Amino acid sequence: MFGDKKVVFSGVQPSGNLTIGNYLGAIRNFGAFSEQYHCYYCVVDMHAITVRQNPAELRRRTYETLALYIACGLDPQKNTLFVQSHVPQHAELGWILDCYTMFGELSRMTQFKDKSAKNADNINAGLFTYPSLMAADILLYQTELVPVGVDQKQHLELARDIANRFNQIYGETFVVPDGYISKDGAKIMSLQDPIKKMSKSDPNENAVVRILDSKDDIIRKFKRAVTDSDNKIVRAEGKEGITNLLNIYTCFTNKTPEEAEREFAGMGYGDFKLAVGETCADALASVREEFAKLMADKAYLESVMAQGAQDAYKNARRTMSKVRRKVGFTELKF
Ligand code: TYM
Repeated sequence: MFGDKKVVFSGVQPSGNLTIGNYLGAIRNFGAFSEQYHCYYCVVDMHAITVRQNPAELRRRTYETLALYIACGLDPQKNTLFVQSHVPQHAELGWILDCYTMFGELSRMTQFKDKSAKNADNINAGLFTYPSLMAADILLYQTELVPVGVDQKQHLELARDIANRFNQIYGETFVVPDGYISKDGAKIMSLQDPIKKMSKSDPNENAVVRILDSKDDIIRKFKRAVTDSDNKIVRAEGKEGITNLLNIYTCFTNKTPEEAEREFAGMGYGDFKLAVGETCADALASVREEFAKLMADKAYLESVMAQGAQDAYKNARRTMSKVRRKVGFTELKF
């Protein structure tokens, strides 16, 4: 808690063009907390460099991710929007928490195992300790609630374990955060391989619908989505493709799965896929428009970054001075 409001924190890596998974599982849900909570939404560029990035692209995507936050409805006056590397306490607390995170715990992280398999020539220490930096992001702001997709659940549980461990050794220092995983959009699957999650780094462009794809591209990708050989538009085991498309449709329309199944009963797969594609493209049209306007005003984005970093810095510093004292660091007196 800072001031009279509880805290919400979440982050998105600027490591690729964001997908409708990022949108439905996370960003779209962020705005709902702005009135009741002090909300921090961070562009986690330090996490992104655990996988090799092109520096110019990383810089561009950092601006783009910030612009997308705003285009998706996050008002910078009501939410603290900032870039992780602008607030050095993330790295500082990340190191300290590394010393309270066990090798065995980090070894069990499924994301580490997946990413090491995908980047076999660059299994760096940062990739391994990624979850303790993520814990630092969250704990630095005394966060109560972390809205994320299902794939971040394991990292979040580790953040809770680290907070509890630290509190047990040194007395109450950190709020122990809870995850907020929405029921519907928490796991959007690949359009080409619907037992895998949709991932922004998927090399198969047809598998991934990006928030900023053109209407034509979105519809084309949905038309090519993998389905199955029977012809029923229902959610069922063995029908992961159709189940995923129905889920995407209900997320964008706020209809129940039963309503959607009734609506499409008897329709052929081709028409169904077209309808889902059009719904998705139309729902994102205003985001794309707003995004284009924001990207044309770099000075505005920079002012948001500066204001966000200043606000985050103030509160991060408070937690750090407590942590530094607890672990036994000396105070520098001028
Ligand atoms: P990242 O950048 O991979 O994803 C950003 C958010 O999008 C969600 N997400 C999905 N949700 C549903 N379906 C999908 N297919 C899908 N793909 C991604 C993710 O769950 C996430 O909420 N480690 C984090 C970034 C991070 C963070 C944090 C998050 C760093 N520090 C502190 C919360 C709190 C990540 O890689 O997200």
